[in-house]
Amino acid sequence: KKTEPTIIIVFGGTGDLSKRKLIPAFYNLFLDGWMPDKLAIYGLGRSEMDNESFQIKLFDGLSEFSRSGVPEPESWEKFKKNLNYLPSNINDQKSYKELLNEIEELEEEWGQRANRLYYLSVAPKFIETVCRNLKSFKLVDDQNKDRIIIEKPFGYDKDSAISLNKMLQELFDEDQIFRIDHYLGKETVQNILAFRFANTLFEPLWNRNYIDYIQITVAEDVGIGDRGGYYEGAGALRDMIQNHLLQILCMIAMEPPVTFEAEEIRNRKVDVLKAIRRIPIEEVHNYAVRGQYASGWIKGKEVLGYRDENDTNRHSQTETFAAIKFYIDNWRWQDVPVYLRTGKRMQEKTSSINIQFRPVPHMTFPTSHSDNLTPNRLTINIQPHMDIKLRFMTKKTGLEMNLNSSEMIFNYDSCSTQSPEAYETLLLDAMLGDTTLFMRSDQVEEAWDVLSTIQQAWEKGGEDFPNYVAGSWGPEKAEALIARQGHFWTMDI
Ligand code: BG6
Repeated sequence: KKTEPTIIIVFGGTGDLSKRKLIPAFYNLFLDGWMPDKLAIYGLGRSEMDNESFQIKLFDGLSEFSRSGVPEPESWEKFKKNLNYLPSNINDQKSYKELLNEIEELEEEWGQRANRLYYLSVAPKFIETVCRNLKSFKLVDDQNKDRIIIEKPFGYDKDSAISLNKMLQELFDEDQIFRIDHYLGKETVQNILAFRFANTLFEPLWNRNYIDYIQITVAEDVGIGDRGGYYEGAGALRDMIQNHLLQILCMIAMEPPVTFEAEEIRNRKVDVLKAIRRIPIEEVHNYAVRGQYASGWIKGKEVLGYRDENDTNRHSQTETFAAIKFYIDNWRWQDVPVYLRTGKRMQEKTSSINIQFRPVPHMTFPTSHSDNLTPNRLTINIQPHMDIKLRFMTKKTGLEMNLNSSEMIFNYDSCSTQSPEAYETLLLDAMLGDTTLFMRSDQVEEAWDVLSTIQQAWEKGGEDFPNYVAGSWGPEKAEALIARQGHFWTMDI
């Protein structure tokens, strides 16, 4: 893999994402030798600032958020030469003209047309303006070299996602559009494909004949922080399920791809979304549970309820928790329940996938000796613990034939190299033009379609919020949802 001379332009360059994720990712790629010698990064923002103040701001961000900690003076000096700030106004054509001048001057100095990578870290309402201007000022005119990365939320529902895609595809080639879902860049999520398709051991069992049910949990202990303005109009369904959780589900449930090509992988993933059974609107309450946190205690600290956070509505009906039971209607997964669950202000930050296998078909051992016989379970811990655990039964050491549950664990701590951050993987892929880990238009639309009746049912409001205390595992109804079939949420913390 080799990166070409590149100019990176970050719209929203002074924003939080840029400081916490993007610049640290670029810096770590630079440290690891992935960045081309000819590199320029432009942060664009409304405030007036010179390059030096911009660099200082980013230095602070790096020191706080980069996995490599406070930058070493020598590498920082080298890296910061690439960082520029350009005051600009998204709505003003003059700003695009100035940007074009900057880029062309640089390309002239380099003696070649560079790759141009535009990162749109801006509110959704600005995406169209930026894209149209990029196109009309010929900032994006080379189909093979110019790319655009777009952050979620990608639309608000199916119809808005379709119009957004239509607009983008009118202006750019699909290969130039990188719809980012940072979960796909996580080491543990990428490993799902290796685990499933680079081993013979698991795939023969990976179906309705052996798997009882699947559950995916993405729990956070944080609240909505200072994102009330955004979150109030989003909620857990749009913020997490539509993208991160459904994407993980696709990796777990997809058929084996024939090659590791972007389109092949994306085709197999979209097949899963198409096969997910649509929940009739009048049945939504039997399949989906929502929650909103009340005040409570997390790790010894008292925290506010959602309705008392900044920029939220005192009578808000926005959900901060969602749990859904899905079925996938195909040969592999017919009748296997798949439970997804996510929430803010839960007891712990933990994301995991649990594949619960069926119990043994016949009990050989006397019941008295096998009280604690538990079915096999595979746990893929995504974060913050990163491991893969396989639970199986063994004989307890001793003179009697007693059974015991044991575990085989693959622990990432034993790996020789440190895991890159999700954004490092994804930004490098975007620089290389590899779309495998990015969402294609049809995936996004199909994911919205899967949720559309739930959205409609929930939009009617009427839920008795708040219905779970901060620091708990969500509303009681979420326990009931899974318990109905004798299943339970698995915690592995
Ligand atoms: C983002 C959501 O996409 O993912 C946030 O908008 C959420 O609400 C975040 O907190 C979680 O990401 P991570 O990588 O910390 O699990």
